[in-house]
Amino acid sequence: MAADGYRMNGLEAEAKAPLPYTAEVRAKTDHIYPRVSKFIPEIEWRLHAPYIAAINDLKKQKNAVILAHNYMTPEIYYGVGDFAGDSLQLAKEAAKTDAKVIVQAGVHFMAETSKILCPDKTVLIPDLRAGCSLASSISGADVRLLKQKYPGAPVVTYVNTTADVKAETDICCTSSNAVEIVEYAAQEWGTDTVILIPDQYLARNVAAMTDVKIVTWAGACEVHERFTAEDIREIRAGNPGVIVLAHPECPPEVIAEADFTGSTSGMSNYVKDKQPTNVVLITECSMSDNVALENPKVNFVRPCNLCPHMKRITLPGILRSLETMTHEVIIDPEIIARARLPIERMIALPLKRQSMYDRQHAPEVMAVEARA
Ligand code: 13P
Ligand code: SF4
Repeated sequence: MAADGYRMNGLEAEAKAPLPYTAEVRAKTDHIYPRVSKFIPEIEWRLHAPYIAAINDLKKQKNAVILAHNYMTPEIYYGVGDFAGDSLQLAKEAAKTDAKVIVQAGVHFMAETSKILCPDKTVLIPDLRAGCSLASSISGADVRLLKQKYPGAPVVTYVNTTADVKAETDICCTSSNAVEIVEYAAQEWGTDTVILIPDQYLARNVAAMTDVKIVTWAGACEVHERFTAEDIREIRAGNPGVIVLAHPECPPEVIAEADFTGSTSGMSNYVKDKQPTNVVLITECSMSDNVALENPKVNFVRPCNLCPHMKRITLPGILRSLETMTHEVIIDPEIIARARLPIERMIALPLKRQSMYDRQHAPEVMAVEARA
């Protein structure tokens, strides 16, 4: 830890002296603390509160909004986030905000999605290292080769990809609408085969739900691929009656052991609606904290896999981002023009249902392609 800095969530936050907790800071943040006090002790809150006050002041001055992904830590999610949600909800919020500046409290592909949808706004990502193993697994050139190999098959791309990849895409999807989008694409393009990239596990979990033939890519989420079926069996053995909710980026063997599979917001809604006595979220750690704070009667079992990219986003980083207006997301206008259509097609499609992943077939895909 930096001698004069403060550490949050196990990562180095800022090599500057922490901001002081003053009476003014207290007056500006006391109304927020009850929402997070279950997980953030008062002594730690005194470190966060000055940043929260400063960020909320700067947001007003600069006409900025903060879009916070469900994996943000509670002090960001509840302290400074203006909108919180899964990838699809954040993209929708970006598309309709009137603010001049968007700060993405999430990872780089999410900030790119915001920029593609709002090319005239300033979009900031507080830390350029906030990447994603799925986004870095495939390039636009890889997609062009796939299209040559499977002519006529529409390309459905998970939003966890770069702008270059989206520019080669017919329609995007997220974990909350993947099944529906794949079926829509097959029907709309008049084929029985769809290219669904780059997450091989999401693709297999979608394949288990549809008759559409799926070609995928050998990408994986470095957080969700670490969960195993054995982990779930151990959790059940140690916590009888626990309800297991899993993200569709997990391998199919994990999904087979779960009671419900859905996007980060799908899992959050499940807890809100069903109020299980005991639940475990098989996904990134911070999700459980945020959902638990909204559902005080539910007990959470907490295996912990952190996304190192999401955890690059910290309060000091967000403050610095707003103060210095860095790091601005810049994308070639020609790429923006091409990448916009597949995202807009996705957003325009009325979601009839959150994609469910109750297995109906074997989770077999037609092919898993990889870079030669
Ligand atoms: P959601 O769209 O479900 O929020 O997923 C995004 C993500 O990166 C999960 O790892
Ligand atoms: Fe990417 Fe996985 Fe992190 Fe989500 S959790 S941002 S998919 S590495």
